Amino acid sequence: MTSQFFRQQLMSSNLRVLKGLAAPDSESSHLPLALKVLIVGEALPFPLFLKVRREESPEIHFLPYLEAGEGVDASFLEPLERLGLERGYFRAEDLETVIAYLNNHLLLTGNGEGKAMLSLCREHLGLTLRLALRQPHLGKHLNAAKKVLGQTLQVLERDDLSFRLLGEILFSDYSLYTHSVNVSLLSMAMPVFLGKGRRESLTLGLAGLFHDVGLTRVDASILCKVEPLGPEDWADIREHPALGHRLLSSHPHFPVAALRLVLEHHENADGSGYPQGLTLAKQHPLTRVLRLLDAYDALTSHRPYRPALRPFAALKVLQEQLGPRGATPYAPQTLKDLIRFLAII
Ligand SMILES: [Fe+2]
Repeated sequence: MTSQFFRQQLMSSNLRVLKGLAAPDSESSHLPLALKVLIVGEALPFPLFLKVRREESPEIHFLPYLEAGEGVDASFLEPLERLGLERGYFRAEDLETVIAYLNNHLLLTGNGEGKAMLSLCREHLGLTLRLALRQPHLGKHLNAAKKVLGQTLQVLERDDLSFRLLGEILFSDYSLYTHSVNVSLLSMAMPVFLGKGRRESLTLGLAGLFHDVGLTRVDASILCKVEPLGPEDWADIREHPALGHRLLSSHPHFPVAALRLVLEHHENADGSGYPQGLTLAKQHPLTRVLRLLDAYDALTSHRPYRPALRPFAALKVLQEQLGPRGATPYAPQTLKDLIRFLAII
């Protein structure tokens, strides 16, 4: 089916456009892309697909909605908006082309409107993370991620309005990439809100983006399990902070402080966390922020075994949660800061 024919048939055919994400990240032939980042009036350098299913069959197909080289016309995007569709898909092999397209977009938009800029940065961070993880030692993509984090921070620092937009641009469907970007953005924005320095935001933003890279070395079947995990599964999962630390420490440009946060992001305030069982006094001072925001985003994301919680419900869980030793896993002051911060986003 050609893209032109598909666009004409979109509303009338027996095709159902699917809104959910594609198959598990590592196996996907097609990767999601927010439709908001398409530049209206410009030619698209890669084909854009929609995920569809015919009414009579459970099989999922990716059909081309825009061809490579085709101009993005606002009239093409309107029906997708009416369907409530936030994302299209591109072929996994076009990842570098898509990132180059987003780089161009960032250059063109420069000081653009806050929500559009944050959406663009979010998309860029997720795809750059994906590209970085394809290389054994992250290659040059780590520096690309740092650059986009700096640009994102500039938008967050611009004014209070950016904070209010943050809640709107975070995705709640869980994947390693969406979760990592959500945690990164929240971790960068909270220090800005608290009036801390840029260095703190950038350290947390980088650590937030890469905190779970160790999970890419854990058996995917464990991560996708719907049933409760067994002790052996947990033993494997508990390896991921150290695995991530090892992976990132071979990169010369990954800062030491961010590296430590990756290693410590499952440490609890009372020393009941892992891998080292450090109490607050022995943790890096920013570990408590990453620990809390990681837990917050996990609660507010859909998981195979439960729906996403609303922010207020998630805060209640965090306030009442007890660790293995019967004490709160979170630093009380950081939890208070998060409550204040969430009140404005
Ligand atoms: Fe983790």
